[in-house]
Amino acid sequence: MSELFDTTCNHDDRPLSRAELAAAMQQADVLVPTLTDQIDAGLIEEAGPQLKLIASFSNGIDNVDVDAAAKKGITVTNTPNVLTEDTADMTMALVLSVPRRLAEGAHFLAGPDAEGWQGWSPTWMLGRRIWGKRIGIVGMGRIGTAVARRAKAFGLSVHYHNRGRINPETEAELEATYWDSLDQMLARVDIVSVNCPSTPATYHLISARRLALIRPEAYIVNTSRGDVIDEEALIRCLEEDRIAGAGLDVFENEPDVNPRLIALARKGKAVLLPHMGSATLESRIDMGDKVIINIRTFFDGHRPPNRVLP
Ligand code: DGY
Repeated sequence: MSELFDTTCNHDDRPLSRAELAAAMQQADVLVPTLTDQIDAGLIEEAGPQLKLIASFSNGIDNVDVDAAAKKGITVTNTPNVLTEDTADMTMALVLSVPRRLAEGAHFLAGPDAEGWQGWSPTWMLGRRIWGKRIGIVGMGRIGTAVARRAKAFGLSVHYHNRGRINPETEAELEATYWDSLDQMLARVDIVSVNCPSTPATYHLISARRLALIRPEAYIVNTSRGDVIDEEALIRCLEEDRIAGAGLDVFENEPDVNPRLIALARKGKAVLLPHMGSATLESRIDMGDKVIINIRTFFDGHRPPNRVLP
């Protein structure tokens, strides 16, 4: 890229301040934000007329106001497809970790009590079996479908709720049950996996009312975006044992994690990960390649392959 463009890089790998973003948007023809850079309507409004492309280094595009960009004639692109399998792996890792108490066991042997371990006993670290249980996937896009494939291989029966039904061949291959009613599915499954994007329509989709439908023996996992779940309501459910446990890779106010969630993790009611669902070297390289292809295609005068429409 540096052969084609004068590039200014954020070498510290940290979220840029609003002032830094505003300054960049006054000068650059292309902005490459990550998902921690909030490119809201105000920033877009103030952007210089030279800014033509926002090529986000992310799959989720909830950090960019795509409507405001379109109004100003700025094209937006993202990096889909290349982090699907890695995110699905991490989802499955949480599906396994929470009921099987994997994090608790690992922390125990890495912690101060390790030397006091008495050895195996019939009741030591008892979790819950996942084989033979029902997983309910909320959002059956690319990542949801990749989670379903893994879940099926682990002996779970796949249930899903989506805006529409997936194609019949994939549904048959996954032996998946479609639920038009999210409420009914939540009441029926043993593990809920949230895999839909964050949009105004999915904000707090898993609301306090819906959390109350989930059975007390069931678990919930989220590798999508924190705001799809009403986090405060989830915390209450976990504190009051109205849901068995949660595996969360994403939070409503990242990077701040509610201390009550951390307390729940210490009690073994939650496994918390610092938004690392797609964090593999391979996916980051592939995301970078996608950004470059989008930029090159755009400046060659064509429609970039990963254009995001409002
Ligand atoms: C994305 O790019 O949207 C992912 O959440 C990164 O992990």
